[in-house]
Amino acid sequence: MRVLVTGGAGYIGSVVVEELIGDGHQVVVYDNLYKGHRSAITPGAEFVEADLLDTDRVRQTLRDAYIEAVIHMAADSLVGESVQNPAKYYRSNVIAGLSLLDAMRDTGVRRLVFSSTAATYGEPEKQPIEEDDPTGPTNPYGQTKLAFEGALRWYDQAYKLRYASLRYFNAAGATARCGEWHDPETHIIPIVLQVAANKRPQVEIYGDDYPTRDGTCVRDYIHVVDLARAHILALGILDERSAIYNLGCGGDGYTVNEVVEIAREVTGKTIPVTVGPRRAGDPAVLIASSERIQRELGWSPKFQDLRTIVESAWLWLQNHPDGIE
Ligand SMILES: NC(=O)c1ccc[n+]([C@@H]2O[C@H](COP(=O)([O-])OP(=O)(O)OC[C@H]3O[C@@H](n4cnc5c(N)ncnc54)[C@H](O)[C@@H]3O)[C@@H](O)[C@H]2O)c1
Repeated sequence: MRVLVTGGAGYIGSVVVEELIGDGHQVVVYDNLYKGHRSAITPGAEFVEADLLDTDRVRQTLRDAYIEAVIHMAADSLVGESVQNPAKYYRSNVIAGLSLLDAMRDTGVRRLVFSSTAATYGEPEKQPIEEDDPTGPTNPYGQTKLAFEGALRWYDQAYKLRYASLRYFNAAGATARCGEWHDPETHIIPIVLQVAANKRPQVEIYGDDYPTRDGTCVRDYIHVVDLARAHILALGILDERSAIYNLGCGGDGYTVNEVVEIAREVTGKTIPVTVGPRRAGDPAVLIASSERIQRELGWSPKFQDLRTIVESAWLWLQNHPDGIE
C-alpha cells in the first residue's frame, strides 16, 4: 500500500514507518518537525515537511503520491500543557485533524488509522478498560482526541471514510534505530533511564499512598513495536468497516515503584527516587484491555514483558545518547 504517516518523524510514528517499510509498503511521512526529528525518519520513506493545517499541501501530497491510506499520529500530547493551553490542543488535534480529513475527502482517500488515546476514558469506573466503557476525558488532550473521533464517526457515515481508532496509554521501548526522544520528556520509563544515564539527578514519584499493592500508581505500558504492528494490522479492516480498539497490557499492570525497580535491575544503577505529593487527576490504576483487538484482528503483543520494554529502551539510550544521528 501507499501510506501517508502524519507525525512519522515522532517517537511512535518513526517506528510505524520503520515497520511499514520493512513490510514493503511505500511510505510518505508528513511532519512539520515541530516535535519530531528528520533523522528519525527511516531511509526509504519520502518526506514532506509541512503542517497539517496547510490543507492544500495535504491534498497535493495525497494526490501526487497516490496515497491509499493514512496513519494519523501527528498531535500535541502533553496532558499538563493541554490544561494550561487548550487552544493549542484544539488547533493541533481537532482543526489540523479536520484539515487532513477534508483533504482525504477531496481526494477520495478513504482509509484512516488514528492514534487516539485511552485518556478519552478519563477516570474509569472499572479496570481493565474496555471499548464500550463510558468516555469522559478529564483534560483537553483527551477531549480533543475524542472530538476528532466524533468527526470520524460522521465522516464515515456521510463520506464512507473508514477509520480504526486505537486508544492506548503509555508507549514505551525502542527498536535498534528508533527510540523515545522528547523534549521535554514526561514519560516515566525514559525519565528513569535518563537518571540511570546521569542525565537527571533523580526520579520524582507523585504519591505513594494510593490504594495499590505498593502505594504508587499502576499503569499500562506497551512496546512501541507492538503498537506499530497494531496500527498496520488495523489498515486491513478498512475496506469493510470502521472500529475502535483499545491497546493495553491487561492483567495487573505495573506500579511506578516496579518500573523503577526493573530499571535498576536492567541498568545496574541505583536510580535515586524522591516521593512528592499526588498530582491532581491521577487515577490510582489505569489499564486498558486488548481483548477485542486480539479476538477480532488476531493482534498479539510480542514484547509485553516490562523488562523487555525497559531493556530495549536502555539499549537505545546507550547507543543514541544524543538522539539519532
Ligand atoms: N507516546 C505515548 O505514550 C502515546 C500514548 C497514547 C497516544 N499517543 C498518540 O500517539 C501519537 C504519537 O505520539 P508520540 O509520542 O510519537 O508523539 P511525538 O510528539 O513524538 O510525535 C508527533 C509528531 O507529530 C508532528 N506534528 C505535530 N503537529 C503537527 C502538525 N500540525 N503538522 C505536521 N506534523 C505535526 C511532530 O513534529 C511530531 O513529529 C500522538 O497522536 C499521541 O497523541 C501517544
